[in-house]
Amino acid sequence: MDVQKIPAREGNHNLKNYEKMREQFSWEDMKKNFSWNETGKVNMAYEAIDRHAENPEKKDKTALLYSSPDREEKLTFSDLSKQSNQFANVLKKYDVKKGDRVFLFMPRSPEFYAAFFGILKTGAIAGPLFEAFMEQAVRDRLQDSEATVLITTPDLLYRVPQEDLPSLEKIILVGENNESGEQYIDYHEEMKSASEDFAIEWLDLEDGMLLHYTSGSTGKPKGVYHVHNAMIQHYATGEWVLDLEEDDVYWCTADPGWVTGTSYGIFAPWLHGVTNVVRGGRFTPDDWYGTIEKFKVTVWYTAPTALRKLVSAGEEAVKRHDLSSLRHIMSVGEPLNPEVVTWGLKAFDLRIHDTWWMTETGAQLIVNIPSMEIRPGSMGKPIPGVEASIVDNEGNELPPNQMGNLAIKEGWPAMMRAVWKRPEKFESYFINGWYVSGDSAYKDEDGYFWFQGRLDDVINTSGERVGPFEVESKLIEHPAVAEAGVIGKPHPERGEIIKAFITLNDGYEESDDLLEEIRQFVKTGLSAHAAPREMEIRDSIPKTRSGKIMRRLLKSWELGLPTGDTSTLEE
Ligand code: PRX
Repeated sequence: MDVQKIPAREGNHNLKNYEKMREQFSWEDMKKNFSWNETGKVNMAYEAIDRHAENPEKKDKTALLYSSPDREEKLTFSDLSKQSNQFANVLKKYDVKKGDRVFLFMPRSPEFYAAFFGILKTGAIAGPLFEAFMEQAVRDRLQDSEATVLITTPDLLYRVPQEDLPSLEKIILVGENNESGEQYIDYHEEMKSASEDFAIEWLDLEDGMLLHYTSGSTGKPKGVYHVHNAMIQHYATGEWVLDLEEDDVYWCTADPGWVTGTSYGIFAPWLHGVTNVVRGGRFTPDDWYGTIEKFKVTVWYTAPTALRKLVSAGEEAVKRHDLSSLRHIMSVGEPLNPEVVTWGLKAFDLRIHDTWWMTETGAQLIVNIPSMEIRPGSMGKPIPGVEASIVDNEGNELPPNQMGNLAIKEGWPAMMRAVWKRPEKFESYFINGWYVSGDSAYKDEDGYFWFQGRLDDVINTSGERVGPFEVESKLIEHPAVAEAGVIGKPHPERGEIIKAFITLNDGYEESDDLLEEIRQFVKTGLSAHAAPREMEIRDSIPKTRSGKIMRRLLKSWELGLPTGDTSTLEE
């Protein structure tokens, strides 16, 4: 097959010679960019916010440009520094200490960012939860992490099952509320009287910073644990991949409930001291373009699912806006279709740079950068300091063009340091010195990596990872459902959609109303993005003799593919 090649563009001064940089690079050298290289004591909140607030030339620069349908606000680095100090004082008053888990469950807002950095300043571990989570999802994450404090809004409170959360001591409510009771704290009341000075908790590089829950194919979501050390890689990729420069206006569309929204919606841009646009609410193509136009966004990080919607909206929509500020576009989260890259070149006269990484990897690993030729459909090449390869199931490297497990040599700075309370789960990621991603891919002769699919049953719908087991567990809680098997089914805009196969308990009759009721049950119990878009009732669900649901078989049937080895199928 002929591979299309889009030539490199100007920019990205440090990575002009990618190959040479790879040879000479060491993470040790990278540390020299940070003040803590001498003191050894560190805090992400200092590096991302306070350092700029202490700089007379930077303190009044806009750090946060917040915009949602009903609110617009600007915060300077100095504002964010003071407000996060105030919030850290509030937490301290209620006894929050280093290592405690403090969770945030609220929409993006200026308060979110002040609270987020306030948490880090106390040395506590921040756990951001996606605002669309329903009760079950919130319960699982707060129970597993044993969070002691939660920051949320009064209208999300009904999804917090307090009676099931013995560790949860305080709930800080942002917004007007009528709750009474000792456990409730009013954010705005407390902030009024809190001091703007706070003695930041100085930490070691390996101290905990963040817990992000993510889905696997079996069991409940796992708490992926990240440490302050990750900043080295957030900073490096902010320079090489985001191509950030002093005057950039940067916009990352991801919610901080997902890792892209923290690593690249918070850390990378602010470590570089650039103006960061945060846009709340849902988007349509005109909102996306309108936001770029209004704030003169220069660097934009988004996802294939959004880009595909832009392609559907056509070049007409592009022409309705002045997008001349835009100079750099990136994508992450699922495969970026080559057609989208080709379309982007025509519609924006810009290359769209795919980037590959995961919640577990903490930062970008395989990327396209400005000074690199782009081959549409390829995720690009590993960043300097990172060795990537394709390995077999024993962790042996495979030759070019052979499909296998996409794997990374252990030891990059942003790598997760643990799966919360599950050491055996953490260990299971590593084989023979390689972190094995669970993605299948191949590498071509020129070192470009090409994504092929997931090796497990994890579903990637609109760029969000959904564990089939979690959905199946919710489905069988419904009284009508006896058994359930859940798969991802390819979909042109969403990447995959969730399809559920169910069997009914005696006494229930198949009907559209019943199926819709079951769908709503998952939607309101777990989260909207986990609700099956398609459902099918079957007489039985295929299982192995050991009782495992054979999702692969369901998928083959659904897609009309060969069923492969079915020797373990239960009679
Ligand atoms: O399957 C890969 C897919 O998303 C998974 C990681 O999901 P999550 O932990 O939610 O993190 C998403 C954002 C960092 C991967 O295992 N994925 C991510 N980026 C790409 C991708 N698939 C294809 N191409 C990509 N660029």
